[in-house]
Amino acid sequence: MQNFITLEQIDSSAQAIKKQIPNFREPIAGIILGSGLNDLADSVQNAVRISYSDLPNFPVSTVHGHAGRFVIGELEGKPVLVMQGRIHYYEGYTMGQITLPVRVMQRLGIPNLIVTNAAGGVHPDFEPGDVMLITDQLNLMGMSGLNPLMGPNLDEIGTRFPDMSRPYDHEYLALTRKIAKDSGLTLREGIYAGLSGPSFESPADLRFLRLAGADAVGMSTVPEVIIARHGNMRVLGLSGISNKANLDGSTMTTHEEVIEAGRVITPKIEKIIRGVLQNL
Ligand code: HPA
Repeated sequence: MQNFITLEQIDSSAQAIKKQIPNFREPIAGIILGSGLNDLADSVQNAVRISYSDLPNFPVSTVHGHAGRFVIGELEGKPVLVMQGRIHYYEGYTMGQITLPVRVMQRLGIPNLIVTNAAGGVHPDFEPGDVMLITDQLNLMGMSGLNPLMGPNLDEIGTRFPDMSRPYDHEYLALTRKIAKDSGLTLREGIYAGLSGPSFESPADLRFLRLAGADAVGMSTVPEVIIARHGNMRVLGLSGISNKANLDGSTMTTHEEVIEAGRVITPKIEKIIRGVLQNL
């Protein structure tokens, strides 16, 4: 059997974080920042920064554009734990390792997860720079046997067969729509398909995804949300559309354009996250 992450390992990582923060206040939300969206972490006040490399059991982010640390402090006066850089399955870590940060959030008592990512727009109307509110997800990694809940169930956190009928919290969907409307921000909505990457999709992959109902496609988020829901966290998901998916093979996709689009997307996502935090 593979080595799966144990409760003891999760707790030792969580304790290592607590030890570095005098007067630790339970964060109200964990926030995961996607590719090109890391600047929001620089707005965190009274910040304590802890590199993943300084924590026991932690994988280290190897991707350009991902800093690889927790930033713990306040946004809008609310205690938050921000992940400046996430870890992806394509980096070669296990599903358990890439979702360890969300497990740690759960053991720190964090009730909400705000997850962001860079994604390709599969919906024909989506343009680079758009923000998409994730209403549901396609677990394509899980369908091919890569579910982060494989292995012994952590009964202390959640049930063996968790419900997935509402991965994204319906109250937070409504709240986000209201925040976007009030601030004059155009918000797309749709279904996020999670693939392992790191190669981008072929035109045939993309036509398949569109037929399956996907509006955006990326290489993250889905395993994190499954782990979050297993532990009953409430989840809000936002995709920054960094490029148009190339259904006819006429254009190429590069990591550079993904990072570049983040500059347009970051202020929009920041506005939404600040609005949500004010209401938590
Ligand atoms: N495909 C997969 N992942 C991505 C893309 C894409 O087009 N853009 C940003 N992340």
